[in-house]
Amino acid sequence: MTIPLVVVGCGGHGREVLTIARAMDVDARRPRWRLLGFVDDRPSEENLKRVQRLDVPFLGGVAWLRDAPPDTHHVIGIGDPRIRRAVARRVEDHGTAAASVVHPAATIGPDIVHGPGFVAFPGARVTTNVTLGRHVHLNQNATVGHDSTLADFVSVNPLAAVSGDCHLAEGVLIGTTAAVLQGLRVGRDSTVGAGACVVRDVPDGVVVKGVPAR
Ligand SMILES: CC(C)(COP(=O)(O)OP(=O)(O)OC[C@H]1O[C@@H](n2cnc3c(N)ncnc32)[C@H](O)[C@@H]1OP(=O)(O)O)[C@@H](O)C(=O)NCCC(=O)NCCS
Repeated sequence: MTIPLVVVGCGGHGREVLTIARAMDVDARRPRWRLLGFVDDRPSEENLKRVQRLDVPFLGGVAWLRDAPPDTHHVIGIGDPRIRRAVARRVEDHGTAAASVVHPAATIGPDIVHGPGFVAFPGARVTTNVTLGRHVHLNQNATVGHDSTLADFVSVNPLAAVSGDCHLAEGVLIGTTAAVLQGLRVGRDSTVGAGACVVRDVPDGVVVKGVPAR
């Protein structure tokens, strides 16, 4: 049995999410998605051409979901956590359920709890006793250590390392190759710049960068 799936956002991140959903077909234990296509309210001409090359239809704006076939699921293919949150709120009004897509080459521990809309790129690794909220995205080769909590709409970008016992609040972005040392907390809607090393708690709503991050 296959489940109809729509990717929201046809930018680079959305098209990467599509490749993850396609890759899941090789793993009989995971849901098999039937890709209906992309929705996007403001696709660029360039991205429309790229979508065409992937041989997946562009369906129209987000409102397309209102009359989607029964049991259609959506996945938000937007990398920026706060834009993803805003779009998720609009999409939720249309009644489709959020799908989680986990690449077969991601390593997700057996006791991991995650909310709907979870996306794990190839090479993402989450070890043990980790709780992930709704619409958390772990990009390529990102790692999350034991006993950590990542709240709703957190993004961990490629090669970033979140150590054990960390708490990332809602809407946090951890930039590419950044590290968060063990036991630390990153506050709501804060951004850790690419390559940063977080060595103390980060308050809400700030951007930190550098080594040590400040
Ligand atoms: C930290 C970050 C959020 C800052 O963005 P911004 O506010 O638009 O910053 P700007 O590009 O205007 O740069 C402001 C200053 O910070 C410096 N800077 C930018 N990013 C930096 C980083 N990651 N580490 C150290 N310094 C950085 C710039 O060189 C510039 O310095 P200057 O004022 O001396 O010229 C952003 O650069 C970043 O690292 N985002 C994460 C990107 C990422 O993970 N991409 C992967 C996508 S998959």
